[in-house]
Amino acid sequence: MSASPSLSVIIPTYNESKNISILLERLKTALAGLSYELIVVDDNSPDRTWEVVERMALEDERVQVIRRFEERGLSSAVLTGMSAARGRALAVMDADLQHDESILPDLARAILAENYDAAIGSRAAEGGDYGEWSKSRLLMSRAAALAARIMLPIRISDPMSGYFVISREVYHDTADEINPRGFKILLEFVGRARNLKIKEIGYSFRNRLHGETKLSPSVVRNFFVALYDLRFGKIMPPSFILYGLVGLSGVLVNLLGFRLGEAAGLPHVVTGLSPRLDPIYLAAPFGYQLAIISNYVLNNWITFWEKRHRGWGNLKAFLMFEYISLFGLLVHTAVFQLLHINGFPGGFLAEEWRQTLNIGLATIVAMVSNYYLNISFTWGRR
Ligand code: GDD
Ligand code: MN
Repeated sequence: MSASPSLSVIIPTYNESKNISILLERLKTALAGLSYELIVVDDNSPDRTWEVVERMALEDERVQVIRRFEERGLSSAVLTGMSAARGRALAVMDADLQHDESILPDLARAILAENYDAAIGSRAAEGGDYGEWSKSRLLMSRAAALAARIMLPIRISDPMSGYFVISREVYHDTADEINPRGFKILLEFVGRARNLKIKEIGYSFRNRLHGETKLSPSVVRNFFVALYDLRFGKIMPPSFILYGLVGLSGVLVNLLGFRLGEAAGLPHVVTGLSPRLDPIYLAAPFGYQLAIISNYVLNNWITFWEKRHRGWGNLKAFLMFEYISLFGLLVHTAVFQLLHINGFPGGFLAEEWRQTLNIGLATIVAMVSNYYLNISFTWGRR
């Protein structure tokens, strides 16, 4: 093979057989005169995208395809591509023709000749726009950019961009720490490295020509999780925060269910176990059950999105969640009783404040123990 190219363009693909040959041809035109290689990383797409690229690679040594059989996912595909790349500048772009290839030489030049560490194709910079985006998608993107500005030490106008070039040094400095599960890879590169010189070049985001997007609607959720993780991940895992928020919503659902049950006239039942036991008001377990269901749904589709269960798998997972929730109730009651009986802590507080404090402490203990049970069993490694 010839000497190393200056620029490596990494193109992750999944079911892009209709787009990829058009893109590769356009890139050859746009990059004419530069020394480059084009690396397509395909996760063994059912539509045989890899085959299309393989055919082109046999005729042009600047084209290469990596067909992955086991691994999946956008960020991990980008890392795979970078690990095989030989260029001094490493570019990433979508295969679906949404990223305007005509600015790629300028982006590459920023790294190769102008000493920048990263160059970003931006829809929010001068000369850029989001194309035909709905109001809600625009708003989400703006919110994401604002959150990134507040949370990260760097300023970039389009932190969700999937179109960028970084230097080999930036790749070396950060690759080890990048979360291969996500797809906010730009953020991971520029959020981890300090004091980067970043250039932004505006471009107009095009509509997808063929096929469909693989990323919505989890894109935005995952973006915020990644942002949080970059900043505070070492202090507390983001899934714990989301789990806590879901738990908080469960308190409301519980209350709502209780009131509903009450309004529907659910009866009191005497437990019959012992005459000294209080009657159980059926509205209470009804509310609790409702909260368990809504907590499961929210945790499965928000907190543990990457590990979510699908289809029938939900049944088994839900039973586990139910079981753990009931165990949690037991833990809660036990801890509360313990604190209550021993009159600790806050002995100096008025009775109802002490009660509230004890409930709060019991809730925290039960929540933490349930969290660990759930990440080990309900959404454990599979
Ligand atoms: N190998 C591989 N594996 N490639 C993937 C995978 C995967 O699991 N999922 C998606 N891709 C490829 C697609 O084939 C496409 O070339 C590129 O990654 C981006 O996927 P799209 O499905 O087109 O994403 P999008 O257009 O919704 O999202 C774009 O905009 C987002 C922000 O607005 C991307 O550029 C995102 O990175 C960006 O965050
Ligand atoms: Mn796209």
